[in-house]
Amino acid sequence: MKFRTCVALILLNIIAVVYMYRPWPFSVVLESLASTSELYFYVALLIISVVLLWSTIPKPRVDPANKAVFITGCDSGFGHELAVRLDRMGYHVFAGCLAPDREGAKSLKDAASDRLHIVPIDVTDDFQVLQAVKYVKDHIGENQLWAIVNNAGVAAFCEIEWCSVQEFQKIMDVNVFGTVRVTKGFLPLLRQSEGRVINVASLAGRFTLPAFAAYSMSKKACISFSDALRQEMRKFNIKVITIEPGLYKTPITYENYLIDRNRKSWAETPTDVRADYGEEYFDAFLKQVTISLKQARPNVMEVVDNMIEAVCTKNPSYRYVPYWRYRLRAFIISNLPVYLSDKLFAARFPVIQPESRKSKSPKTPTS
Ligand SMILES: NC(=O)c1ccc[n+]([C@@H]2O[C@H](COP(=O)([O-])OP(=O)(O)OC[C@H]3O[C@@H](n4cnc5c(N)ncnc54)[C@H](OP(=O)(O)O)[C@@H]3O)[C@@H](O)[C@H]2O)c1
Repeated sequence: MKFRTCVALILLNIIAVVYMYRPWPFSVVLESLASTSELYFYVALLIISVVLLWSTIPKPRVDPANKAVFITGCDSGFGHELAVRLDRMGYHVFAGCLAPDREGAKSLKDAASDRLHIVPIDVTDDFQVLQAVKYVKDHIGENQLWAIVNNAGVAAFCEIEWCSVQEFQKIMDVNVFGTVRVTKGFLPLLRQSEGRVINVASLAGRFTLPAFAAYSMSKKACISFSDALRQEMRKFNIKVITIEPGLYKTPITYENYLIDRNRKSWAETPTDVRADYGEEYFDAFLKQVTISLKQARPNVMEVVDNMIEAVCTKNPSYRYVPYWRYRLRAFIISNLPVYLSDKLFAARFPVIQPESRKSKSPKTPTS
């Protein structure tokens, strides 16, 4: 049973017990309330329970028969799981893979039915995107393209001073221009089906932590693109939805990979910049990266469940943030003044003084 259903049922039980028996401490609370306040108390509890119960009722879904879905980045992670799940539900899945000859694509083919097609696609390559569109048109048969899921993505966990401009460009090219390229390629087919575009953004696109500049910039841009597209496509009855996960354990957050990338970028950083920070600072930074990545949630299916809902429900939400604690945290942080959110992020990501600041007066701000 879902967590929300349990809370709603417990609340309903409390209402019944309190109403009938008025046990301590409720009797004290209720006696202190005037009779109208008591009524408000019951009504408020009832409304909360009904809203919670309502939110857990399964939403009506579309019929998967004759519906095709194109997904990018199916080699691993969310995209891979989504492709398998949609295939099992009866959709015709076109699984875009960056490396169709590698293990990820092969295991996907083995796990799925004959309906699933592996489509080679590097979303940074105009020609490959056009080829993918052509492949789908040639193999879609009597089916209609119901949804595309722009899921391919790359990340970096790197301070700005040792994140090269090429790294910024690469992240933008995959996460932003890749999404733009693929969407523009498939819109004519989606117009025929009045289907939907699902863009995998991130909570990092709503607020930015230290070492997240390149990734957050790309996901903010992805959200802006989705916002404009949603409004522009309303006239064609095409829905546009964003999925905005927090931190999850998938290959994009593999510690060794992100640490190696940092070491490589650090080695390529000008020596005067490295001297200002010092090796001790860099090592402390890497330790902090490791600590942060250990907090990634292993429950990848929370995200895939939301992606399924975005593809399958008749009336999907515009925005999905998987996991209630991420939703709550996002709500609080986005309503905090910058001064406080900066403090909060600095506390979550503490690093030592850079070498060049060590001799300075402690009153001189360091961050
Ligand atoms: N995991 C998280 O914490 C998290 C949080 C928020 C948002 N997201 C977003 O979720 C999406 C899926 O990521 P994931 O967590 O499932 O990680 P993932 O397993 O690394 O998935 C990303 C996929 O994109 C592919 N890819 C990379 N560059 C590509 C390119 N140029 N063209 C086509 N495909 C490319 C990767 O292929 P290779 O494996 O061959 O590189 C990989 O299969 C990404 O957009 C990511 O930004 C993830």
